[in-house]
Order: sequence, then C-alpha cells, then structure tokens
Amino acid sequence: MTKSPSIHFHRHGEADVLEAVDIDVPAPAAGEVQIRQTAIGLNFADIYQRRGGHGPHAATPFPVTPGAQGAGVVEAVGPGVTAFAPGQSVAYLHPGAYQVTRNVPAHRVVALPSWIGEDMAGANLLRGLTAEYLLRRLYVVKPGDAVLVHAAAGGMGLILSQWACALGATVIGTVGSAAKAEVALAHGCHHVIDYRREDFVARTLEFTGGVGVAVVYDAVGKDVFLPSLQCLRPRGLAVNYGTASGDVEAFDLQILHAKSLSVCRPTLRSFVADPVELRASAQAFFDAVRDGHVKLGIGQRYPLAEVQRAHCDLESRATTGAPVLIP
Ligand SMILES: NC(=O)c1ccc[n+]([C@@H]2O[C@H](COP(=O)([O-])OP(=O)(O)OC[C@H]3O[C@@H](n4cnc5c(N)ncnc54)[C@H](OP(=O)(O)O)[C@@H]3O)[C@@H](O)[C@H]2O)c1
Repeated sequence: MTKSPSIHFHRHGEADVLEAVDIDVPAPAAGEVQIRQTAIGLNFADIYQRRGGHGPHAATPFPVTPGAQGAGVVEAVGPGVTAFAPGQSVAYLHPGAYQVTRNVPAHRVVALPSWIGEDMAGANLLRGLTAEYLLRRLYVVKPGDAVLVHAAAGGMGLILSQWACALGATVIGTVGSAAKAEVALAHGCHHVIDYRREDFVARTLEFTGGVGVAVVYDAVGKDVFLPSLQCLRPRGLAVNYGTASGDVEAFDLQILHAKSLSVCRPTLRSFVADPVELRASAQAFFDAVRDGHVKLGIGQRYPLAEVQRAHCDLESRATTGAPVLIP
C-alpha cells in the first residue's frame, strides 16, 4: 500500500468543492500499471465533471477523483503486464487522474517516446488524440479546405489549428481577446476573429469569399453553435465537441436542409475505446509532433495543491493553451 496525495469532491459545485486528501493506493492488480505522476492534465471536461448536471460524468458515485489524463514514471506493474516496466515514461487516458500515485489499466497506457517530455504529454495527450480523430477520422481534412476553429487559442484550439494547417487547410480561428489573437496566429491560424467584438459569421464569409467553410470545430457550444451553421459551405459539417459556454439548445432540424448540412456531437471515448485505436491515435499524434506539424506547449503550470485556482482560471477564460497540474 502506498500513501498518495489526491484531490476529490463530495458534491458538485464551484471550484471550492475540490479538496485535498491522502489516499491509500494498493499494489497494482493483474493487468494494471502503477504510475507516479509528474504531470496531470487539466481539461475543460474536468470542469463539467466537477459541476455535474450533464454528460456521462453525472452518475459518478461520490467521492469523485476528477481528471482523465496524466503522465509519469512506472513504479510497478501487476501480474500479466509485459508491455511496461518500472522506470519507463508513460502517459494514459483514464478517469481519476488527480492523484500523485495511481493504478491504471495497462491498455489505457501508452509508452512515451524519449523526445516527448512527461509534462508535455500530461498536458496535451487527451487534446492531441481529440485533434487526431476530429481532423483525420470524423472528417478527413483535405488541402484546400477552409475550417473554422472556435476558441483557437485554447488548449484544444492550438493543436487543432496547427494540425489542420499542416494538412493543408485554411484555418480561421475565433478568440476572446487581442492577446489570444496573437497566440492563435502563431499556431496555425491564417485568419483570426475576436468573437467578443466582431460578427464571426460575417468575417468567416468574408475570409472564404462568401463560400463558407467545410467544417466548424466548435467546443464553445451554446453561444456560437447556431450562428456557426451560417459559416458552412453547402454539405458542410458542424462538429460540436464541447460546451464551454453551455449546452447547445434544441433546434429545428429543417435549418440544415437548404445547404444539406451535417451536425455531430462526438466524444473522444468512442474513438479510442479500442486499445488498438488508442495506440494508433497516439502514434499519429506523436508523429505529428515529431514531424513539426504540431508544436506542443504548456500554457500554465499549477501545483496540484492549487487546483482550485487552476479550475477558476480555466473556466473564466483566463488561460491560453494547455494548462497542467504538477504533483
Ligand atoms: N468531445 C471530445 O472528444 C473532446 C475532447 C477534448 C476536449 N473537448 C472539449 O474541447 C474544449 C476545449 O477544451 P480545453 O480543455 O482545451 O479548454 P480551452 O479551450 O483551453 O478553454 C476553453 C475556452 O473556451 C472559450 N470559451 C468561450 N466561451 C466560454 C465560456 N462561456 N466559458 C468558458 N470558456 C469559454 C475560451 O476561449 P476564448 O476566451 O478565446 O473564447 C476558453 O479559453 C472543451 O469544451 C472540451 O470539453 C472535447
């Protein structure tokens, strides 16, 4: 048994429901890997999970240890695990990330290449795999496509914009401030729109000569989803993959008819549930980083003990790029 600092919550609510506790971590069971984490991912999904109320996390029994991704060093492996060994650098996707030492099923773990730091992987793996399925599988981005990326200076936005650009797309990004516009332009965006000041529909149509974009990548939801449909070209696709401003409200399907538009609401878990798909997706992401198509960064580092501040910053739009919690 190992003692591990951990963060949990006993009820849904604001960031002050997050509490530090010490927990006992048993030796890894059959098929598990014990990881001493050096970087814990902080994703907007952790905020949905903390708030409760919607999505697949709502039914989680309390107390909940939030978080879904991390990276670190293998401490021990359980019976039957042959793919990993103590001392190895790894990253993973699995619920319950906000603790220093933890056990993870080996099939949710990926080995890190020596040239990707644990901090970069801990901050970016989940976002990188999300970008992978959004750009290469859900819709295959082609050279010459124009795409609209909402919240382009966020953790997801920076990876999506760079990778879409490398695939040959013209990338239009929306951002919430002038400072974020600079960041987005330096990370793959050809055009940037401050959607708190400008009409992003009119500007997108201007940038595309009135044609519209092939795909909208929307993780903002309620505030932008319906107007985003007007940004699409005929047969375009609106992907609502996140709801930072709130859930998209019910709408009339008939509004898709005139331009034969498609709409979808995907989640990463459907695209990496199979361990073979998880490894293939991670490999494609690592290749994109190795080849210089995606430059990884860390926007903000927070000690794990300051997790409440980290959550407040992310949900108040104060962060840029990928934040990470350091145990
Ligand atoms: N479906 C999936 O498979 C999947 C997987 C991973 C992530 N996601 C989604 O991707 C999104 C981005 O995740 P992330 O962790 O990288 O976060 P992030 O983009 O770094 O942060 C969210 C950003 O959304 C923008 N935003 C607009 N309206 C907002 C509001 N009312 N409140 C808060 N933020 C608002 C802000 O950027 P501006 O200030 O520039 O507007 C903010 O910085 C999240 O919605 C997440 O759920 C989905």
